[in-house]
Amino acid sequence: MLRDIDAILIDRDRIADRVRAMGEQIAADLLREIGPGASAGQIVFIPILTGAVVFVADLIRHIPFKLSLGVVAVSSYPGRSLESKGAAIRGDLPRDLAGKHVVIVDDVLDSGRTLALIRDLVLEQQPASLRIAVLLSKDVAREARVDAEYVGFSIPDAFVVGYGLDYDGYYRNLPDVATLKPEAIEQTSG
Ligand code: IMP
Ligand code: MG
Repeated sequence: MLRDIDAILIDRDRIADRVRAMGEQIAADLLREIGPGASAGQIVFIPILTGAVVFVADLIRHIPFKLSLGVVAVSSYPGRSLESKGAAIRGDLPRDLAGKHVVIVDDVLDSGRTLALIRDLVLEQQPASLRIAVLLSKDVAREARVDAEYVGFSIPDAFVVGYGLDYDGYYRNLPDVATLKPEAIEQTSG
């Protein structure tokens, strides 16, 4: 795996520091909104599988409130493609989000289609509040408008892997965010 890495864009220490700060910020904002007397079951984190698994695992450990996790799976990069082919939800969104304080979590905001899809489906259930947290935000023109309240790092328009992000299903376990050597990438036409 390591021989396929071209350059480390964001190393594990910077990620850890930033994720901690994001968690503390989200916790402070939720506390302000819900208040210390909040009853259990009001906060739901929704990580978008599979890319958000590493990020959400670290992020929620900085949130000292009772919360639940409701996962949703979306696929947008089929196989060895480097370009999103449009987001499609796999399976169901968690139900019973009405009146809840929802935080949608994803690895990277790119075209915006994935987050726009999930955001709109969540909003249909009329949550009490909705926030979006992404580890990375790519500096590109969005195809769907999405405002993420919490952004870990803004990055240029490069294809990256690690800390949950994959290429063809691999490299999610890399602790840093990195680019791949060209020879590790086999692009497909479709
Ligand atoms: P969007 O729908 O174009 O915003 O793309 C978001 C999804 O595409 C993310 O959830 C990622 O899974 C995936 N994605 C976008 N950019 C990258 C990347 O550079 N590396 C790996 N996956 C990516
Ligand atoms: Mg993904």
